[in-house]
Amino acid sequence: MSKPVGTPIIEGKNLIKDFSVNSNSLKKSKMRAINDVSFKMYKSRGLAVVGESGSGKSTTAKMYAPSGGQIDYYGRDIQTITSRDDLMEYRRGVQMVWQDPFGSLNPTHTIFHHIARPLLIHNKVPSGNKKELEETVYNLLEQVGLIPPKATAEKFPHQLSGGQRQRVNLARNIAVGAEVVLADEPTSMLDVSIRAGVLNLMEEMKFEREMALLYITHDIATARYIAEDLAVMYVGHMVEWGDTEQIIHNPQHPYTQLLVSAVPDPSKSIHTKLKGNKGEIPLWTPDSFGCPFAGRCMQATEKCREKLPEITQLADNHFVRCYLYEN
Ligand SMILES: Nc1ncnc2c1ncn2[C@@H]1O[C@H](COP(=O)(O)OP(=O)(O)OP(=O)(O)O)[C@@H](O)[C@H]1O
Ligand SMILES: [Mg+2]
Repeated sequence: MSKPVGTPIIEGKNLIKDFSVNSNSLKKSKMRAINDVSFKMYKSRGLAVVGESGSGKSTTAKMYAPSGGQIDYYGRDIQTITSRDDLMEYRRGVQMVWQDPFGSLNPTHTIFHHIARPLLIHNKVPSGNKKELEETVYNLLEQVGLIPPKATAEKFPHQLSGGQRQRVNLARNIAVGAEVVLADEPTSMLDVSIRAGVLNLMEEMKFEREMALLYITHDIATARYIAEDLAVMYVGHMVEWGDTEQIIHNPQHPYTQLLVSAVPDPSKSIHTKLKGNKGEIPLWTPDSFGCPFAGRCMQATEKCREKLPEITQLADNHFVRCYLYEN
């Protein structure tokens, strides 16, 4: 079992995010997309976030303007970052990778432009030094397996495959020296046959570039492969989190048990099972109470419906939010 070491690069503390929702009444109502979500990310370490559709995974990853709680970057609340230089530094250090690899690329620009631009914006290469810029771009393309680099650089995004486009996005993260990569289902739109290659590359970035990786997925098998830590979300709450292997082999929260049992072979995807349950998900509002899973839980008691359970630490790196384990 691996334990996190050192201080976190980024830390979410008791995050809440409310959204206004349309309702029939004149009163404006709100839904709480995430409630009391906390996590820590360390260099060379992956945190996978799993949960069904609408459980708040992407909201957690977006990491800005929370309705409550705070996000610390190297121990500093990001809301207090105001100077231009510090903001640039945060934007350089924390990068996103989206589900749709095409969405973040501009169809009218070459691949060369896509890599060169962040290098220049973040002063990784002195402007005006064309030769050095070219060499750096080609080198980055080679590092992410886009060869021959010169020919790739001349292409436009539509001339690449989905997997190659996602590699361009990852090359941009390497280009700026990202310290944190937030990847929101980065391979779910790719052909199954090329997913492993992209995940391998992210795994390499994690170790060789010491990046902290947040990996959102429906697929517990890949979570296992790429992330030392796992957080299981249900209706905006982290219900169980900690060491990935320990949780998969010894799930404690009734929801995690359901997730893992839905996968006879945990190396297979839980995607189908999760999507199938979509219709039953309750909506959480700022006035909701109780455990969000109580309505589906075989072991729920009156208490579970009345008050959200506190967090219980089960081991060094294993936490659960469930009355079954409260002392
Ligand atoms: N901008 C927004 N305005 C209103 N509601 C939102 C907004 N963004 C997210 N939500 C709601 O917040 C909840 C959590 O959404 P989120 O996108 O974080 O879920 P998710 O776990 O990423 O789901 P998926 O697996 O489908 O991507 C959902 O009920 C969603 O409808
Ligand atoms: Mg999402």
